[in-house]
Amino acid sequence: MGRRPRGQERAGAAGINPQSGCEVSGVPLWRSRSAKVDLLRKVPLFDGLSQRQLEQIAGLADELEVPAGRRLAAAGETGHELFIIVEGQAQVRLRTGRTARLGPGEFFGEMSLVDGGPRSATVEARTPMRLLVVGHREFWSLLTAAPPLCGKIMRTLSRRLREAEGAPTA
Ligand code: CMP
Repeated sequence: MGRRPRGQERAGAAGINPQSGCEVSGVPLWRSRSAKVDLLRKVPLFDGLSQRQLEQIAGLADELEVPAGRRLAAAGETGHELFIIVEGQAQVRLRTGRTARLGPGEFFGEMSLVDGGPRSATVEARTPMRLLVVGHREFWSLLTAAPPLCGKIMRTLSRRLREAEGAPTA
């Protein structure tokens, strides 16, 4: 599991929680790789991936539980991680004031990881949540390990940019 070493590498970095090694404070869950693969199999984002791809992803993602109300990303701040929702609901507050809800199988945090820019929106847990967290370096390994995932993330990113710009969407 990558979480603890990654946290140690980034010790002292702004916004990194020493308990979880993640920018969000929460309870890290320590599962076996095979238990994590079983969990990944239930996440629609990973539909169609091979056992080998799921095993690779299990080595790149950590699991975190957070309570309702926890801030998961803050608009304008540097982002370090991609979050994939396993259970629970998140609320996204865009800078325009518009809100969006995200639930199981959906993800957030990809924008900052792609271009290194600040978080585009504030995201909070509406309910207790279980999340898969993928760090910056692991994010690029994830896309290489599972090209179909790369397409899904790009399509979502493009749609979110259109929404932010008020451009027509498909
Ligand atoms: P990021 O900018 O890293 O951090 C905030 C996240 O909110 C952003 O990545 C997206 O994952 C998410 N987000 C931005 N716009 C939308 C939207 N229109 N609908 C849902 N989620 C969004």
